[in-house]
Amino acid sequence: MKLHAESLTRTYGKVNALDSLSLSLEARVLVLIGPSGGGKSTFLRLCGGLDEATSGLLSINDTPLAHDPARLLVWRRRNGFLFQQFNLFPHLTALENITLPLEKVHGNSKSVALDTARRCLNRFGLLAHAEKLPAQMSGGQQQRAGLARAIAANPEILLLDEPTSALDPEMTAEVLELIQELAAGGQHIILSTHEMGFAKAVADHVALIAAGKILETSPPTQLFGNPREEFTRRFLAKVMRFA
Ligand SMILES: Nc1ncnc2c1ncn2[C@@H]1O[C@H](COP(=O)(O)OP(=O)(O)OP(=O)(O)O)[C@@H](O)[C@H]1O
Ligand SMILES: [Mg+2]
Repeated sequence: MKLHAESLTRTYGKVNALDSLSLSLEARVLVLIGPSGGGKSTFLRLCGGLDEATSGLLSINDTPLAHDPARLLVWRRRNGFLFQQFNLFPHLTALENITLPLEKVHGNSKSVALDTARRCLNRFGLLAHAEKLPAQMSGGQQQRAGLARAIAANPEILLLDEPTSALDPEMTAEVLELIQELAAGGQHIILSTHEMGFAKAVADHVALIAAGKILETSPPTQLFGNPREEFTRRFLAKVMRFA
């Protein structure tokens, strides 16, 4: 995927969540890292068409994400999303969580939606849990079901915002493995994470976002092995101390 941002700004009241951010790159798997409050989630929301910039330009795969609710909706539907938690409708089973958007948002027939949902659940080892409500599944199973839902309509880009930060280490590993598998299968992904080991393993580009700007973007070997910016060095020294 191609990403291009120029002077991208998103303000909330007096806070510049993104502050004239600029970026131009081509990546298959872009991983966003950086200090808390730096702007990762805001940037992901803009990339997915879930939110709009206050000013500046953003285009993805040559599609400008301009102020136009109808076009943003079309763009949003082309992508898949998974967030930290609360991804599933609590009153629907795992299967229904996948079939509902396929039918209501993507216009699939009931039987096509069911086929697709079963195939996705099966792929992630969840077929036995198809009839369970989210509350009857573990956190890891819920995130895997959320991932199954996110990929069910063949998204152009999968946007993942700290998809494992609410999970314990064993469940984290389960979900990270699936993401790695999707990436290996050619799925384009933009993901934010505080897991540096995973970022290193899965990314072909890493962007460090702090105070609403991209401070450095490089392939992972460069960014983790020989960062260009002093800020990156200090950030990595801090977060890798116990890794
Ligand atoms: N809906 C909102 N209303 C007001 N301020 C917001 C909103 N969303 C984000 N912000 C502010 O924008 C800044 C960037 O937040 P963002 O959530 O993008 O950071 P982040 O890098 O994802 O942080 P974390 O690693 O903690 O998830 C923060 O100062 C945050 O408080
Ligand atoms: Mg965030």
